Amino acid sequence: MSLKKAAFAVRDNAYAPYSKFHVGAAIRAESGAVYVGCNVENAAYPEGTCAEAGAIAAMIAAGETRLSEVYVAAGGSKLITPCGGCRQKLAEFADGDVLVHMATISGLESTMRMDALLPGAFGAGHMEDTPE
Ligand code: THU
Repeated sequence: MSLKKAAFAVRDNAYAPYSKFHVGAAIRAESGAVYVGCNVENAAYPEGTCAEAGAIAAMIAAGETRLSEVYVAAGGSKLITPCGGCRQKLAEFADGDVLVHMATISGLESTMRMDALLPGAFGAGHMEDTPE
C-alpha cells in the first residue's frame, strides 16, 4: 500500500469528536516498513494526540528509530502542515532532507522538506559537551 493510501485509510479511524478534524499520518521507516497513526482527542482537550505522534509511537514500538518519508492526510479544503510540536517530534527521527507530504480529501497536495518545516530544530547535538 502506498504511503498516501495508508495515511488516508488510517484517517478513517481518527477519533476527533471535538474538533471534527480527522487526520491520518503514515511514516515509512528506514527498513521500508510503514507505520500509521491518527489523531485521538480527549474530553480534557490538551490530552489529545496528533496523528503524527501516533505514527511515531508505532514506529518506535516496532523497534525502529529513523524515518525516510512522511504523509499526512487531513480533511478540510486548506492544506495543513504538521503542528509545531509534531515538527519537533518528526525532526527527532528524520534527517533534514526527508520529504513530508501533506494532502486533503479535497485533492490538494504539497510536499516540504523536514528542514523547511523546522529550520534550526533543537536536537540531541545541542546537549553534547554540557558539563551538567
Ligand atoms: N492534528 C493532527 O493530528 N495533525 C496535524 O498535523 C494538525 C492537527 C489534529 C489535532 C486535533 O485533534 C485536530 O487535528 C485539530 O487540531
